[in-house]
Amino acid sequence: MIIKKRPSWALSHADVTPESVFLNRRRFMTGLAATAVAGSVLPRWSAAAQVPVQGEALSYTAMPRFSTDEAKTPLKDVTHYNNFFEFGTGKEDPAKYADEMVVDPWSVTVEGECGKPGTYSLEDLVKPVDYQERIYRLRCVEAWSMVIPWIGFPLADLIKRFEPNSRAKYVAFETLSDPKHMRGQRSFFSTIDWPYREGLRMDEAMNELSFMAVGLYGKALPKQNGAPLRLVVPWKYGFKSIKSIVRIRFQETEPKTSWNMIAPQEYGFYSNVNPEVDHPRWSQKRERRLPSGLLSTNWIETRKFNGYGEQVADLYKGMDLKKYF
Ligand code: MTE
Repeated sequence: MIIKKRPSWALSHADVTPESVFLNRRRFMTGLAATAVAGSVLPRWSAAAQVPVQGEALSYTAMPRFSTDEAKTPLKDVTHYNNFFEFGTGKEDPAKYADEMVVDPWSVTVEGECGKPGTYSLEDLVKPVDYQERIYRLRCVEAWSMVIPWIGFPLADLIKRFEPNSRAKYVAFETLSDPKHMRGQRSFFSTIDWPYREGLRMDEAMNELSFMAVGLYGKALPKQNGAPLRLVVPWKYGFKSIKSIVRIRFQETEPKTSWNMIAPQEYGFYSNVNPEVDHPRWSQKRERRLPSGLLSTNWIETRKFNGYGEQVADLYKGMDLKKYF
């Protein structure tokens, strides 16, 4: 008999008392007006939508149960030390060039093994959602890390709306393909077969930690961080947290993923943060917590599953994590 232990973070909605609620009244009222107009067409929506708009504040409920109290990485580092290869390979390239990306209007195509395929506007996707703030650790495979206050909603809530069927064993994600506005996709030297792709096993995607971010530090996601909609999977290396998502596909087979396609011996499908499994070219035992400089390098020990083992270790019971790295 399998007895399912309820982890400490798996509280019902009623158990959680929001510690702080931040409301941007103007956007809230705009949302109410939009709901009133859309109401006759889409009656099932009751919540006030708040479509993320570049530079604007979002309303959210803080979720201390899902948040670390470690020092947050300053906004300047979060937004100026990025990996977004669609805009170049330098850490500052995304901040310099991501503004060229067009994020409005935005839609996401949902396809494959589900009952509700279709193309959904960003507004459709966020309309029934109450945003949460979760302060997660982000550990890059390159051995640096940050602590980021994300705004968004559980990926599981989004997935349920598309009614995946029993053949949906995996979910695949794709980033926008737009070489005209994404200079990295035009680059002759790029090794990535665009669009950038990622994927999760269905039970990983449904885990309560998997998060769809639309904002950080209280405001809509800056373009360099993956506006308007990105995945955040905090127990996996950062490259699993795909940015600027335009396609979600439910499928029976393991999806192809960008870094695994480039170097399968270096980047596996699972890519769980694991100090016991080194990258073939460097150690994964430690990480540089940003901000870090020449005088204060700020190296810290890396934790298995990035410190989220209590929440996710069960997903990998019986699996050889050296083989399925
Ligand atoms: N998503 C897309 N589409 N393109 C990318 O190059 N880089 C990944 C991930 N998501 C990437 C992406 C990597 S390697 C990391 S570490 C994180 O985004 C970095 O997120 P950040 O720049 O917001 O810190």
